[in-house]
Amino acid sequence: MKLPQLPLGVRVMDEDHYVLEQMFAQAARIADSGLAAHLDAILAEIAAHFAREEAEMERVGVPILACHRVQHAALLDEAKKIAAFFPSAEPQGQRGLIAFNLAQLVADHVAGPDRASSDFFVERVDYSAPDRRRA
Ligand SMILES: [Fe+2]
Repeated sequence: MKLPQLPLGVRVMDEDHYVLEQMFAQAARIADSGLAAHLDAILAEIAAHFAREEAEMERVGVPILACHRVQHAALLDEAKKIAAFFPSAEPQGQRGLIAFNLAQLVADHVAGPDRASSDFFVERVDYSAPDRRRA
């Protein structure tokens, strides 16, 4: 399993965060004509990830889930603002909106609300023993 910049020990978080980080980094290598579609793919992936994460938090019984849902909604609102501005930016600016602005929104969310929520997961991924979990 490849790890994101800030592993939290919760599989649905770490796997998805790694995928998103790769998508942010890919913006530097995507042709100008593909940037809008890449942004759409990232926004769809963020929304899908939030749904998976919230479902897992609900299954585990994370007590701050309501707060976390509000954090997700706020991030999606900010992402919509980036998407609205995106067409008016030059290609290099569009890459920056993905690789810096959007990536920073997600990184801040991971370091704050996700990290706090990860403390409520009893099952944690043990990265020293791949494919095993520790209590
Ligand atoms: Fe989250």
